[in-house]
Amino acid sequence: MTINLAIIGAGVMGADHARIFANEVPGVKLAAIVDADVARARKVADEYGASHVTADPLEVINSRAVAAVVVAAPDKFHSALTLACIAAGKPVLCEKPLSQDVGECLSVMSAEEKRGKRLVQVGFMRRFDPAYAEMKALLAGGAIGKALVFHCQHRNVSAAYDARPETAIANSAPHEFDVARWLLETEFTAVSVFRPGGAAAPATVPVQMVLETAGGALVNLEVNINAAYGYDVRGELVGEKGSIELRNPDVTSRNAALARSTAYPADWRPRFAEAYRRQNIAWVKSLEQGKPSHGASAWDGTCSTLTAEAGVKALQSGARVEIALPAKPGFYATA
Ligand SMILES: NC(=O)c1ccc[n+]([C@@H]2O[C@H](COP(=O)([O-])OP(=O)(O)OC[C@H]3O[C@@H](n4cnc5c(N)ncnc54)[C@H](O)[C@@H]3O)[C@@H](O)[C@H]2O)c1
Repeated sequence: MTINLAIIGAGVMGADHARIFANEVPGVKLAAIVDADVARARKVADEYGASHVTADPLEVINSRAVAAVVVAAPDKFHSALTLACIAAGKPVLCEKPLSQDVGECLSVMSAEEKRGKRLVQVGFMRRFDPAYAEMKALLAGGAIGKALVFHCQHRNVSAAYDARPETAIANSAPHEFDVARWLLETEFTAVSVFRPGGAAAPATVPVQMVLETAGGALVNLEVNINAAYGYDVRGELVGEKGSIELRNPDVTSRNAALARSTAYPADWRPRFAEAYRRQNIAWVKSLEQGKPSHGASAWDGTCSTLTAEAGVKALQSGARVEIALPAKPGFYATA
């Protein structure tokens, strides 16, 4: 069985998804590439062998020639495109965040529940990253005892979209929110946000967040989308008996000019190449088997966006903001 896929959005992520599905995922065919910029869609389609190109997402979502959809358009289109996929009964891998707006996330959950079938996976690919997966397995196996503090650093060379701290919280930090919830198997209860230099600091300085969890562990998160030197994601989980650190997947180190060095990538693709590949393979397998993968659901997407909304409030008010999740619907009880 071959699953015909459409990718909506042919920018950095959409093109990378096209490459991964064309070259590394069995059981799928690229049927259509959609982009508001048709020339961009055409270029990606030609490179990865998709037959159809259009600027109209609804045309492909409703096409009988398309069985499943990847949404890689900008954040503000995610929920409407995901809702259109649900209405058409099509599975959708929606890039993170599900939306920057909690109300929109809730309407996706309610549409999916009404449809009666789990159709939505959110592209929180870190759940599939070998380093985070090993961290979770070691924690579960008791290697460091009870988790106490998860230190996370998320650094980009320069802002991909806009440099505001609100965007760092609403667009970038959800990766850490999701992976911390998944790793620690708990929910956030409150968030405080600090910036070096305080409210008067320039927009480009990092955001430092402290998140409290229902399980008691703290998550200490620096989001620095203007770090200048490289794409660098770090994590260290401190427990009662030890700690577990993430390692970057360097394959060489260089010895020259009296120094040993490794390189930083310019963006997220090299660091998380294996995570994207495993995520996309797992998603296709879940479509073949007709059941959700262990990827993030619309519920997980909603929890991250709720956390981001509280984080933006904490940033703007300077106060600690409590996070109140709605009750988790039984519909999302598994996987
Ligand atoms: N999972 C990850 O690690 C990761 C990494 C980067 C980006 N992302 C997410 O992927 C999404 C895309 O990011 P990007 O960096 O590829 O952005 P981008 O700007 O490179 O690409 C977005 C593309 O969408 C097209 N577009 C705009 N409006 C559209 C519409 N209504 N319908 C169809 N196409 C439309 C644009 O022309 C552009 O080609 C964002 O939501 C971002 O948050 C996820």
